[in-house]
Amino acid sequence: MDNSRSAVVQGASRGIGLEITRQLLRRDPGLRVWATCRAPEETEDLEDLAVSSAGRLTVLPLDVTDEDSVERAARRFGEATDRAHVVINVSGVLHGPRFRPEKKLDHVDSDALHAVFAVNAFGPLLVAKHFHRFLRHDERSVFASFSARVGSISDNRLGGWYAYRASKAAQNMITKTLSIELARVAPRAIVVGLHPGTVDTDLSRPFQRHVPKDRLLTPAASVASLLDVLDALSSEDSGRVFDFRGTEVPP
Ligand SMILES: NC(=O)c1ccc[n+]([C@@H]2O[C@H](COP(=O)([O-])OP(=O)(O)OC[C@H]3O[C@@H](n4cnc5c(N)ncnc54)[C@H](OP(=O)(O)O)[C@@H]3O)[C@@H](O)[C@H]2O)c1
Repeated sequence: MDNSRSAVVQGASRGIGLEITRQLLRRDPGLRVWATCRAPEETEDLEDLAVSSAGRLTVLPLDVTDEDSVERAARRFGEATDRAHVVINVSGVLHGPRFRPEKKLDHVDSDALHAVFAVNAFGPLLVAKHFHRFLRHDERSVFASFSARVGSISDNRLGGWYAYRASKAAQNMITKTLSIELARVAPRAIVVGLHPGTVDTDLSRPFQRHVPKDRLLTPAASVASLLDVLDALSSEDSGRVFDFRGTEVPP
């Protein structure tokens, strides 16, 4: 068994997840990182990072909409180590080839609702189901999932984006529920949601027109702040959602 500290980054093919993988490797030379994505063979950036990591980065296939693949990734992780110190769910969808966020009720589409909930809400829950056994140790650990400010019910002033807002709100409830269960069985595990700000990635690109330049973050800037936020968390923070500045996003 490998006794190094270990991290799992779920959804690491591009955007924020790729940047988290890069920065985790850079920040903590004692950390081993398992980065997961749907199609490792198609993610050249991750592959390059693995090659230059001197064996500290392992890439595993995982599609959060396929529970068997989550279970298989957990099994592969468990063959190398029995403990995780950081598990981060980054994967998320806002738009796809066949859908865009709804501006009004007429745009609501059953297939799109299912697709968005499957990744944004149920994804982190399935990862928790298969990876929580690695958090049952006596060292501090963090289980974080990428939420979004628009998942805040009390902060919803504009409406629209039914599937994305509701899926992130559901994810926040899952984070809270998970924090209660893990407090019993893995008392040093801290479970949180994260809002990265508006970050220049494929996800936000179609909606950046109205974002003032100084409010659009690079993945590097957002991730550097979020990793500081994760480092500063204590067990009282478990179950809550924080933005990249460390400010709580209200439920
Ligand atoms: N960018 C922003 O402004 C912003 C704002 C608020 C919240 N967020 C949240 O931050 C997170 C990261 O977003 P991003 O901006 O980096 O988006 P992105 O560049 O579009 O990346 C999305 C990631 O999710 C992965 N993914 C999608 N479906 C998946 C599935 N079924 N199984 C596993 N992975 C899957 C994608 O993998 P593939 O390459 O295989 O598609 C990709 O790695 C998301 O949860 C998003 O909701 C982003």
